[in-house]
Amino acid sequence: KHALNIVKMKKMKADGVPLSMLTAYDYPSALLAEEAGIDLILVGDSLGNVVLGYDTTLPVTIEDMVYHTRSVTRGARNTFIVADMPFMTYHGGIDETLRSVRRLMQEGRAHAVKMEGGVEICSTVSAVVSAGVPVLGHIGLTPQSVNMIGGYRIQGKDAKDAQRLMDEAKALEAAGVFGIVLELVTEEVAEAISKAVSIPTIGIGAGRYCDGQVLVFHDLLRYASPYRDKRFVKTYADVGTLIREGISSYVQEVKERSFPAESHVFNADEHVLDSLYGA
Ligand code: KIV
Ligand code: NA
Repeated sequence: KHALNIVKMKKMKADGVPLSMLTAYDYPSALLAEEAGIDLILVGDSLGNVVLGYDTTLPVTIEDMVYHTRSVTRGARNTFIVADMPFMTYHGGIDETLRSVRRLMQEGRAHAVKMEGGVEICSTVSAVVSAGVPVLGHIGLTPQSVNMIGGYRIQGKDAKDAQRLMDEAKALEAAGVFGIVLELVTEEVAEAISKAVSIPTIGIGAGRYCDGQVLVFHDLLRYASPYRDKRFVKTYADVGTLIREGISSYVQEVKERSFPAESHVFNADEHVLDSLYGA
């Protein structure tokens, strides 16, 4: 299997072939996602929520992202992998931004980076793209700005907000992004944006007419995720219950001494008994 690239992604959009994207944060999740045939993997800073147990994505550092991206790229060697730029790593000077991009690409071995924001990040996007690094945009609900937005609310409900999102998408396309994540955007607005740009849109809680869909690994699999019951999430497997039941059976069998059983043990030679007990 050949890894996808940004040229093929644009062609897939033109041909009407949807892109499937999933987050992954470590070796096993990446390995399983690749084996399952996912098109793209996102090492999302949602790892702050679902792996590290923070309330927001703000505490996630570049160190966290490099470490997890490297684990993911070891697990999925033939899949296009996008790494999130963490909070406050792309709003300073371009040199500082490029240092973080370099770490995700060279140490993490990602194929592309993702940045949240609209018109205000377009010059940064252009500079990173000029350095030869594909950039995925991300507009709508942008969790790194939760303290400005004032909560995790749906974007693009009224005409003014819809126009702002459309303007942001067009500006990002002009700045050179290879695709745009639309998060928690009304279906009508996401559809209009998807028609207005020639690069793929990848939706999460953004309806049926995006060019692709992305979900968080732990949400999709009901794997101890705090967000698994959100309206836009569909649970495809209940891994959390499976793991909890497995661990609880183990605990019980240890308590009642039914594990380990005879089949799990290693035996010494017969004469060892005599020497140990001095027969
Ligand atoms: O971090 C993440 O998982 C994301 C997706 C929700 C798009 O940015
Ligand atoms: Na993210």
